[in-house]
Amino acid sequence: MSQLVRIRFTLNGRPQSVKVPPMKRLLDVLREDCRMTGTKEGCGEGECGACTVLIAGDPVNSCLVPAVHAEGAKITTVEGLAKNGKLSALQTAFIELGGAQCGMCTPGMLVTSAALLARTKGRVPGDAEVRDALSGTLCRCTGYQKIVEAVQAAAAPAPAKKKAAAVAKKAKPVAKKKVVAKKKVVAKKKAVAQKKAAASRAGRRPGASKQARRPAASQRRGRR
Ligand code: FES
Ligand code: FES
Repeated sequence: MSQLVRIRFTLNGRPQSVKVPPMKRLLDVLREDCRMTGTKEGCGEGECGACTVLIAGDPVNSCLVPAVHAEGAKITTVEGLAKNGKLSALQTAFIELGGAQCGMCTPGMLVTSAALLARTKGRVPGDAEVRDALSGTLCRCTGYQKIVEAVQAAAAPAPAKKKAAAVAKKAKPVAKKKVVAKKKVVAKKKAVAQKKAAASRAGRRPGASKQARRPAASQRRGRR
């Protein structure tokens, strides 16, 4: 059994102390010893970025960092982005703009984006800038467009909220209109069917009522 060492660091703003094997992966220390399971393991070899956390504000793959390197560090995991139980603007934008699906890459995407927004504070990062920052984090579900849009929206929270509200407002009447239109079609079909039934009971075709009552021209001439 390998020797255990005491490691102290700051995790999401709080002091943390663990006794672990020095070469235990930081990813495992966070998940198993600190019970911060938001950070995910994808490839386990530094390729996918799912395990990304921030050390001193910089994104690192925690699957590649031995625990001993965390001594004295300031570490931020995805759990550290929400404040007092309230999601950050970035997390909210991911939810509202569809930046997350299965969620496997999302913690890594979020902390990496948070680091980017901390650097670009006060301006909305460009498309290429966001893609470049997120290039070490792979997503197998969403494609990257919605993620990029969510990051940019979080940099300008007010317009993002307006956009999300506008999308929601637009979506409701459309759904309502569809239901009303469907009801009208059903009612129309019903009316036609009833008319047909009534006409067949009367032994004539619907829509031919006047002509049916009126004798043919040849008959009219014959009567004169
Ligand atoms: S799990 Fe660490 S980079 Fe994939
Ligand atoms: S949301 Fe599923 S991998 Fe990115």
